[in-house]
Amino acid sequence: MSFKVKDHYFKKAKQENYLARSIYKLKEINEKFKIINKGMNVLDLGYFPGSWIQYTCEVIGEKGKVVGIDIKPVNKKLTGIKNVNLLESDYLDFSDWKSLVPDGKFDVVLSDMAPNTTGIKDVDQARSLGLVEKIIYELPVFLKPNGSLVFKIFDSNDAQNEIRNLRKIFKQVKIFRPDSTRSVSKEIFVVAKNYEA
Ligand SMILES: C[S@@+](CC[C@H](N)C(=O)[O-])C[C@H]1O[C@@H](n2cnc3c(N)ncnc32)[C@H](O)[C@@H]1O
Repeated sequence: MSFKVKDHYFKKAKQENYLARSIYKLKEINEKFKIINKGMNVLDLGYFPGSWIQYTCEVIGEKGKVVGIDIKPVNKKLTGIKNVNLLESDYLDFSDWKSLVPDGKFDVVLSDMAPNTTGIKDVDQARSLGLVEKIIYELPVFLKPNGSLVFKIFDSNDAQNEIRNLRKIFKQVKIFRPDSTRSVSKEIFVVAKNYEA
């Protein structure tokens, strides 16, 4: 089953000129929860190779802006696009949000970041949670009031606790597993809307 899914979305992404099959996860999320809209400023953490950047550009149009950060060198396939700004940086070390958009704040923060997996469940879950914890800690710095947050996390008891805490600072928090997620994957997506800064 998982290989069939992989084949289908992998081929579809190639045919439609998207840089990764992950595009369909964000598309499903956005069609269901309507978080990205025309003219918005969007931050994409762990953007490489950049299918979420491609999709976001289609939705936000010329008046919006998308900033991508990834540890990997900037993907030159995306550098010609006017309203895209890509940075090579470890998110865990990055702090200069004010240099990215005028007030340093975004309408939407996306994270498809995944740590390098070790195969040791507890270690992988803890690393995944570590990335998300930093995002949540920094929300007052880079998310606009009423803004939305979408992130990927490996499911665990600690992850569920963190999600419960989010309900105190967002009006709506949903856990979502897109159909395009491989069936063997332990990842879930959290979609949080209406940030109460
Ligand atoms: C699954 S890929 C993202 C795919 C992307 N959403 C797309 O649609 O093309 C996860 C990315 O997270 C990046 N990443 C993991 N940890 C990171 C960190 N601490 N800082 C920045 N990027 C990170 C990885 O380098 C990798 O490129």
